[in-house]
Amino acid sequence: MPAKDVDLKMVAENVGHSSRATCGTCHFNGGGGDAIKHADLSRQMLEPSRDCDVHMGGYDFSCAECHKTTNHKVKGRSSSSAASEGEISCLDCHSDEPHYCGSVLDHHLNNHVKSLDCNTCHSPVYAKCKPTKTWWDWSKAGDKKRKPVKDKYGQPDYNYKKGEFKWKESPKPTYAWFNGYMNRVLIGEKVDPLQEIINLTSPVGSIKDPTSKITPFKLMKGVQAIDAEHDYFLIPHLFPRDKEDKTAYWKHLDWDKAFADGMDVAKLDYSGTFKWKETWMYWRLEHEVMPAKSALSCVQCHDSLQGERTCNRCHQDSKDVDFKKVVNAGTNFEAMKAKGRDVGELIGTTDYIDFKALGYKGDPIIHGGRFKKLPMGYKKH
Ligand code: HEC
Ligand code: HEC
Ligand code: HEC
Ligand code: HEC
Ligand code: HEC
Ligand code: HEC
Repeated sequence: MPAKDVDLKMVAENVGHSSRATCGTCHFNGGGGDAIKHADLSRQMLEPSRDCDVHMGGYDFSCAECHKTTNHKVKGRSSSSAASEGEISCLDCHSDEPHYCGSVLDHHLNNHVKSLDCNTCHSPVYAKCKPTKTWWDWSKAGDKKRKPVKDKYGQPDYNYKKGEFKWKESPKPTYAWFNGYMNRVLIGEKVDPLQEIINLTSPVGSIKDPTSKITPFKLMKGVQAIDAEHDYFLIPHLFPRDKEDKTAYWKHLDWDKAFADGMDVAKLDYSGTFKWKETWMYWRLEHEVMPAKSALSCVQCHDSLQGERTCNRCHQDSKDVDFKKVVNAGTNFEAMKAKGRDVGELIGTTDYIDFKALGYKGDPIIHGGRFKKLPMGYKKH
């Protein structure tokens, strides 16, 4: 219920369309501050440049332009425990053969759509315009004397209430096969305490599953506490309820009290002993689509197209097309670096998504795709 002095009539008379700012009031601050959790949603999206997000910057989309709503149900699934009021996708507006401009690349690009999520090529780095938190170690919290040190982005590495942090601007995503489903660890669910790292969320999918596509994720790593006897994650009471609060971690810096209170509210038993566990969370990257000309180039993924032989590995040379030029036209990391983006180590990459890590024998142009070898049967020399 709203506070007594809120004039509801005045509020009702001022209801208007939602905007990036209204949705962003909450969604830019996931994790307790700007850009912390959802790397691809930050205050940067209020007035993004075209290079930062082509829909919201280039074409001035509001959030609701894509997140179509009916009766206040906001479509779009999240990677964590989804409330799910319907799903949305790039294909709501673009076709599954989205490359139609008559370029010599259209044919191959449309072929790739069967195995690659659009954003694998169209959003090659995330948190482009604002560093995001990539490491959050709660076990280090509690040291009031430790002075936070600022990193190269001016972000603090420590907060005595929250623990130790790492930040990164413009990182390369983690790529994984994804078929639309996520594995999730829910409140009270037992985890394997012998596992060194626990995935709180992870994508379901595999190279052998035709409905899976290679999809970009932000990997959020951290350290959190599990109950040493019950083997489930502990929920601490952090924020003091009032001046009399005797258990809040952010007042007393005592984990034991904070866990006992938090678990009591969650109606789960706390054994009184806990241990710290490394946790990973996969956050799918859906926003920050770059302009078409900034999509990854053929060479940035296919090492085999790097040298003298490019398209003419398989096609006859053509007077009309400069093959070398087309295989190299793509994300310009040098220009991004010149504008201050932290992408130095990505310049010159030629196996961007790491084919072997995804289950290929190597570059598919040499070793074949997941279901077929090229009909032309290109032979390895
Ligand atoms: C160009 C289209 C587009 C625009 C504009 C857009 N989104 Fe999204 N968003 C998506 C897609 C696609 C998904 C994936 C949803 C799904 O799979 O059902 C998504 C997912 C999300 C999610 C779930 C993220 C997760 O993984 O947990 C949130 C939250 C979200 N969007 C908020 C916003 C907000 C806030 C804005 C405006 C600042 C916005 N979106 C603008 C396309 C868009
Ligand atoms: C008052 C705060 C608030 C505002 C304003 C808000 N949201 Fe949300 N939204 C949330 C919370 C909280 C969740 C659940 C987050 C979670 O589960 O991690 C959520 C979840 C979502 C999701 C994911 C749904 C799912 O399956 O879990 C989408 C998409 C989304 N919001 C889009 C929007 C859009 C678009 C707007 C503006 C029209 C908007 N939100 C405005 C707080 C807000
Ligand atoms: C609500 C409709 C809608 C959704 C959803 C949507 N787009 Fe678009 N997109 C458009 C429109 C409209 C344009 C501008 C006209 C055009 O180029 O077709 C556009 C343009 C583009 C462009 C070309 C940009 C340029 O001008 O250089 C790319 C690339 C693109 N979208 C990719 C995506 C990806 C990837 C997704 C999913 C994350 C997505 N779109 C989701 C409507 C949408
Ligand atoms: C293998 C990488 C790759 C994938 C996957 C990919 N694209 Fe593209 N896309 C490109 C490149 C490169 C261009 C620029 C084409 C050119 O300059 O000829 C482009 C151009 C576009 C354009 C501009 C129109 C045009 O024909 O040039 C749109 C819109 C677009 N892509 C949408 C999408 C959508 C939607 C998806 C997913 C269904 C997708 N793309 C998947 C690489 C990719
Ligand atoms: C984001 C990385 C990425 C980019 C960019 C990319 N590819 Fe690919 N390419 C792949 C993957 C992954 C496969 C394997 C798909 C499969 O398993 O069927 C592939 C397969 C191929 C194959 C087919 C191999 C076979 O056996 O059928 C050809 C040819 C090819 N790519 C050419 C290109 C060209 C030309 C471009 C530039 C327009 C390009 N690729 C851009 C990732 C990429
Ligand atoms: C590894 C071998 C291979 C490489 C490298 C390759 N292609 Fe292809 N390309 C094929 C094959 C095979 C086909 C026939 C259709 C299919 O299987 O996709 C094809 C089809 C095409 C088509 C459609 C032709 C038609 O008649 O419909 C175009 C255009 C094309 N390629 C252009 C290119 C360009 C431009 C490059 C370099 C950027 C390139 N290809 C690199 C193997 C290759």
